[in-house]
Amino acid sequence: MNAPDKTQAAQSLEHYWMPYTDNPRFKSDPKMIVGAKDMHYRLADGREVLDGLATLWCVNAGHCRPKIVEAIRRQAGALDFASSFSTGHPLAFQVAERVAALAPEGLDHVFFTNSGSEAVDTVMKMAVGYHRLRGEGARTRFIGREKGYHGVNIGGMSVSGVPVNRKAYGGLLLGGTDHLRHTHDLSTRAFTRGCAATGAELADELEQRIVPLHDASNIAAVIVEPVSGAGGVLVPPQGYLQRLREICTRHGILLIFDEVICGFGRLGTPFASQYFGVTPDMITFAKGVTSGSVPLGGVIVKKEIYDTFMKSAGAGVQFFHGYTYSGHPLACAAALGALDTYAEENLFDRPNQLAKAFEDGVHSFKGSPHVIDCRNLGLIGAIELAARAGAPGARGFEVFEKCWDKGVFVRPVGDNVAFCPPLICEKKHLDQMFGTVAEVLRTVA
Ligand SMILES: Cc1ncc(COP(=O)(O)O)c(C=O)c1O
Repeated sequence: MNAPDKTQAAQSLEHYWMPYTDNPRFKSDPKMIVGAKDMHYRLADGREVLDGLATLWCVNAGHCRPKIVEAIRRQAGALDFASSFSTGHPLAFQVAERVAALAPEGLDHVFFTNSGSEAVDTVMKMAVGYHRLRGEGARTRFIGREKGYHGVNIGGMSVSGVPVNRKAYGGLLLGGTDHLRHTHDLSTRAFTRGCAATGAELADELEQRIVPLHDASNIAAVIVEPVSGAGGVLVPPQGYLQRLREICTRHGILLIFDEVICGFGRLGTPFASQYFGVTPDMITFAKGVTSGSVPLGGVIVKKEIYDTFMKSAGAGVQFFHGYTYSGHPLACAAALGALDTYAEENLFDRPNQLAKAFEDGVHSFKGSPHVIDCRNLGLIGAIELAARAGAPGARGFEVFEKCWDKGVFVRPVGDNVAFCPPLICEKKHLDQMFGTVAEVLRTVA
């Protein structure tokens, strides 16, 4: 068969409306990935590109790992689909049990979705439903945080705090939300390694401004990412999450950790909750649970919340919510393959083993052209570049494109360049990733 010529290729690219993409720009110069293995993509022209972002913060076990591939293959031939609406299949129960075993003590029931966005909208319904069943039906307000990212569905978008993701959808945003200040402060905390020693008091805004303004009796939950990712990789100050926990507990407000990025080993523990020693009431997860191989997400809740639904909602369906593909057999098979791979290769410990090399690599950019901040924790980090006058994001995007051309994928988040490699990465991959970015920075205006 003849290879398609350029015109055919251009025609066939037209019909796909790509998400979060400058469509014409991609279609005029496609970055087409046709294969992947371990730490690398293979491109249509045969070149290899090092994956420095676990694709979208998800491929924690690396690409096309044998246990995951085999589990999906086997499952596709054994049970392609079974619904979890009043019927079940064993794999969903196995994955729930395994995820609960990894979760912090007391969070032991798991509800499945297909994505992080669905997990966030699900957790919001759970929070409101839980309060209502306990006779506190006025608790419907949600508190997110500036620069937070909780997906793209209506609830998640409303509690998110990334302006570009909100500005076009004014009337769709839920009214009953408010936002804590973000913790990013270049004037006092730029170039901090790990968690900053100052800034815990930013959590006090919850008690000093938000609770008095709305009254705790109207607030269902606070939702934050322990380390925010898609908002630019923001690491919480020491003690900040503890303080949020204490305030929430004092006021009967649920604390939700959105661990869609942090979960499944990113910080060197199964969940960030364990890294920080702070136990929320509910955790949302996705991405790393299958190492990105098949879409799966979910919510882990503490027993008391599950029990409240079971006891108080009465006979019949206790929670009027669920997705056709909640607990899909292929996704569950992929999750079991991923969880086995993580356990057998002790991958959740990799961020601890690589911590110093990764941190040193991220902070090696201090003093590089345009760099105004470097941030890191576990195996997630970012450098922040000064924005070009009148063109926010342009410099970050240029770094991404030039790195790609040199065989390294790092992600621009506005003018931040994010690093989040698969947990299987080795020092040589870090050296290549940071070395390429350093080289590129010297060429960027
Ligand atoms: C913290 C967080 N929550 C939710 C989401 C949304 O997940 P998804 O894209 O799977 O819907 C993301 C995606 O990056 C995320 O980082």
